[in-house]
Amino acid sequence: MRQSSLVVVANRLPLDDNAAPDGACEWRRSPGGLASALHAILQPTPATWVGWAGGVGPAPAMSDIGSLRLRPVSLTEDELRGYYEGFANSTLWPLYHDAVQQPVFNRDWWETYRMVNQRFADAAAEVAEEGAAVWVQDYHLSLVPEMLRDLRPDLLIGFFVHVPFPPPELFMQLPRRVELLRGMLGADLVGFQREQAAHNIAQLARKLLGAVVTDDAITVEGRTVRTGAFPVSIDVAEMRALASRPDVVGQAKQLRHDLGQPKRVLLSVDRLDYTKGIEHRLTAYSELLRDGYVKVRDTVMVQVAVPSRERVESYRDLRDRIEGEVGRINGEYGRVGEPAIHYLNQPFDRSQLAALYQTADVMVVTPLRDGMNLVAKEFVAAREDGAGALVLSEFAGSAAELEQAFLVNPHDVDGLKETLLRAMEAEPADLEARMTAMRRHLTRHDILAWARAYLTALDHTGRLAEQLPADTPRRRVPRQRSAPPPGKDQ
Ligand code: ADP
Ligand code: F6P
Repeated sequence: MRQSSLVVVANRLPLDDNAAPDGACEWRRSPGGLASALHAILQPTPATWVGWAGGVGPAPAMSDIGSLRLRPVSLTEDELRGYYEGFANSTLWPLYHDAVQQPVFNRDWWETYRMVNQRFADAAAEVAEEGAAVWVQDYHLSLVPEMLRDLRPDLLIGFFVHVPFPPPELFMQLPRRVELLRGMLGADLVGFQREQAAHNIAQLARKLLGAVVTDDAITVEGRTVRTGAFPVSIDVAEMRALASRPDVVGQAKQLRHDLGQPKRVLLSVDRLDYTKGIEHRLTAYSELLRDGYVKVRDTVMVQVAVPSRERVESYRDLRDRIEGEVGRINGEYGRVGEPAIHYLNQPFDRSQLAALYQTADVMVVTPLRDGMNLVAKEFVAAREDGAGALVLSEFAGSAAELEQAFLVNPHDVDGLKETLLRAMEAEPADLEARMTAMRRHLTRHDILAWARAYLTALDHTGRLAEQLPADTPRRRVPRQRSAPPPGKDQ
């Protein structure tokens, strides 16, 4: 068994097993912010990534990506339902996102969640060399830090929560709140996107475990766990390099042409998730059309909604609602050959996303709650031209950093409409000043800066961070499908 001095444990591996049309296995870059973020820095790092490869049944054989070793963890059909679709994504996900959707408390899921967490902990313990650092990611694996500590007290254990961590009044609803809290506090350092989340866990530890807490530490049963905020970011260099590639610039021009050379293109790119506020923005856009502020001939909206968690009922219901609403808006306001909204329910590769970002005059990011929202950062990184407006929800973690965006409360539909109009009508010089400030921030706070800050806080010495590359690679994951312009036949 090959062992590593740095092990990352996340629900997903950076590659996802997709069935190709002929039924063969086809590896694709995994969806979602976590995989995007970590993949960029780990590819050239001599580390092991423990995770699920996206299918059910025995774990597939997977070769290394660059210097990164992959250690797949298997899930059965029942485990997928109880652990991933159930406890992680029907209980914790909605609860951690301000309960914008009612969390489901199903007692049968807990044992599966616990068992699968144990499997991830066992796998990590197996591939970690003596004294290694193990960096556990996100709410799917809340019990792994404590389990790992029991198995391997020699390890340095980090835990990072990519999603929001809720205030006590919400977390207290969880029937297994004490076990979850103890699980997370098995780590040496628990990191969050925002300071507020660190404050929330400290309050909970005091209330539920009688811990002694400070702003950045929790002492419970004689052990001190450090906490802190480490806002995650993107591979800025990769997005910039993509955006300046001649074929991508060409794709962006072609897209605009295909959209009918409108005066303005509004773009949204989300996983199809009820936390993303897609329905709120459709309502706002449809009212702007209804009231004549926006004309279909001048303005086009593109909504990319990548399929996500499709076997979970609330996600299927959301998709039905969104597709119904897009159909209604197009039926009411579209013209022959000129839909009001171009709706694309498909995954795209990075270069296609870069082309889309360049095509947008207004990027509309309106989550009701989001740990960070990397799409907003990707848009900014893709705009070397300094043009384009970012409309960004105050409830996305990224709003704390991208202060020059047009910030908005997506629950306030009138405010959202007014902000969309302001962004559409802003002067180029104003947009450029905002974009320059946001780009400057991102240059200093990219994904490498995030990983360095976290790992340095974890080991205090900087030795772990030295394993990271000096710069992020700009290579792409092998065996992706070729990339026609978004929305063209694939
Ligand atoms: P979340 O982690 O909730 O999915 P983020 O905005 O933080 O939200 O991250 C989403 C990631 O998924 C981004 O890196 C984005 O580029 C990627 N993504 C979004 N839509 C698509 C799509 N249609 N195809 C491929 N990747 C996508
Ligand atoms: O970024 C938050 C997150 O929950 C990640 O942990 C996850 O990988 C991503 O969203 C996408 O969700 P999923 O893995 O369920 O497709």
